[in-house]
Amino acid sequence: MCGIVGYLGEKEKKEILIEGLGELEYRGYDSAGIAVMAGEELRHFKAVGKLENLKRKAENFESEGYGVAIGHTRWATHGKPTELNAHPHSGAFSYVVHNGIIENYQQIRERLEKEGVNFLSQTDTETIVHLFEYAIKRGMDPHEAFVETIGELEGAFAILLISRAEPEKIFFAKNGSPLLIATDGEDIYFASSDTAVIGRAKEAYYLEDGEYGWAERGRLAIFREKEMVEAHFKNLPSDKAMARKEGYRFFMEKEIYEQSRVIADTMLGRVLDEGIFFEELEESFFDGIENIEICACGTSYHSALAASYLFERVAKIECRVEIASEFRYKEPLLSKRTLFITISQSGETADTLEALKMAKKSGLKTLSICNVDNSSIVRLSDATLLTRAGIEKGVASTKAFATQMMVLWMLVLYLAKRRGAIEACRLEEELEAMRKAPKVLMVAESLHQRIHRLSKRYLHGHGFFYIGRDLFYPLALEGALKLKEISYLHAEGYPAGEMKHGPIALADSELFTIALMPSSVLYEKMRSNVEELSARDATILAISPERFDIADDFIETRYSEHPMLEFFEMMVVTQLLALEISVRLGNDVDMPRNLAKSVTVE
Ligand code: F6R
Repeated sequence: MCGIVGYLGEKEKKEILIEGLGELEYRGYDSAGIAVMAGEELRHFKAVGKLENLKRKAENFESEGYGVAIGHTRWATHGKPTELNAHPHSGAFSYVVHNGIIENYQQIRERLEKEGVNFLSQTDTETIVHLFEYAIKRGMDPHEAFVETIGELEGAFAILLISRAEPEKIFFAKNGSPLLIATDGEDIYFASSDTAVIGRAKEAYYLEDGEYGWAERGRLAIFREKEMVEAHFKNLPSDKAMARKEGYRFFMEKEIYEQSRVIADTMLGRVLDEGIFFEELEESFFDGIENIEICACGTSYHSALAASYLFERVAKIECRVEIASEFRYKEPLLSKRTLFITISQSGETADTLEALKMAKKSGLKTLSICNVDNSSIVRLSDATLLTRAGIEKGVASTKAFATQMMVLWMLVLYLAKRRGAIEACRLEEELEAMRKAPKVLMVAESLHQRIHRLSKRYLHGHGFFYIGRDLFYPLALEGALKLKEISYLHAEGYPAGEMKHGPIALADSELFTIALMPSSVLYEKMRSNVEELSARDATILAISPERFDIADDFIETRYSEHPMLEFFEMMVVTQLLALEISVRLGNDVDMPRNLAKSVTVE
């Protein structure tokens, strides 16, 4: 999704902007641009496609001395991914970059066009810069004009604006899309995510919805409802290396290999001998809670779905799971006895955030499971359990999913104990299994090699069915999502017992079935479901600790003593399979077409 960076200071502005945008590349984009004002000179560069194209265009440009600069990577929403539609958008003397969607842009545009304003692009963003300049033409000073402009906008936005009318300032505003201000003690940086400024800035202030203002050398003015706001800056991590590939071919590959380590981080200080401990949660947090509702999107939805089996089976608490975009408009019946959980890697997913706002409005207690501290979802939730996966750069989520599953498993055990739903010896067994998870998640070289070899047989066909039962049904959904995201092959996840109710009609030798066959959960049932498909000549790749002769291909797993250990091991297999198929097909594994890392529009 779109990324924003801004800079105000003496350093080479072009480099800072392009470097910052590079750090946001993982979010997905289709064009990019920068605008730099140094002294009297206001220049801009835009390019479709990768940042390399923008770099080439701005090759001979250098700016000296103090100046202000804004940059953007665009993921098309209104208007095609063309150079004209790329940000920054300009008027006669100003430039703007914007994330989010201006819902009333058509009305504004029509009004301004009647006043003779000329629009160049098809974007909603361009209205912002024209509104601003139109207000100046009507006699307002730039500050008044900016306030007037953002007052007219409906929808979600994070905005940076620079103008010859006030050449030493950056104007900013945030409502519904993330934006932060950071500093190294000297210069000021802006970004839609702190990834863009880590390594340069030391601390950051994460703007709240409704905040706006301006920055100039040595001064920062932030307002909310016309009142000045005091910014409380938080320290930023300095470790940029975390965000690099470290010798792996792709971030996704690195992140698959990292899962063992990050899951140990997730457990640190939380998995104790006597049970699970969450420093972040007050014991009383769960008082009066009778059931759970979880809302999430995509991969995060899959972790929610898997966890719902555990909440009911182990913690004996009713658990309902909803896709956030569906939940928002179904006019759901909500009860104050429900704990409302949102799960999100980024903490910025628009639908999940809106679902959370609905739950809060109805007075529900809210808990988020999130990877990004200070994200919008974290800030809005009553309590948060951070997944501690570290920055996830691959667009296809891997380690975020693994750590979400771990946090959810821990939460299940925490609640099971608190509710007296689990016997001491069973809890001990669960904890023992949990401690083995980092080992299970280690990627064996031989396994990766085997999957690499097998992958060449799975590059065609008319589709993939990932099938599983129970916990392994959401894992099948996730396996299929991974494959389709990065290979562009059609893949579906299905509950194995449902195949005979329709999809089995598709079975022939060109239908690839990836069968998740754990030995600890419904093995025999699963076996019969796969036999039914095999009898119709479907090509079967079985993943199981039990040898299975009728499978065309077989990947043997090693850990069968606990369903969650089987879950984690099979998860790695499905991730590697998707990766290797995608590599063979020559796709961009980390930045698959049409996808964005952080989906901040609904
Ligand atoms: C898939 C993937 C997406 C996200 C979804 C929700 O690999 O990453 O399906 O899971 O867009 O994003 P978050 O978890 O950031 O709310």
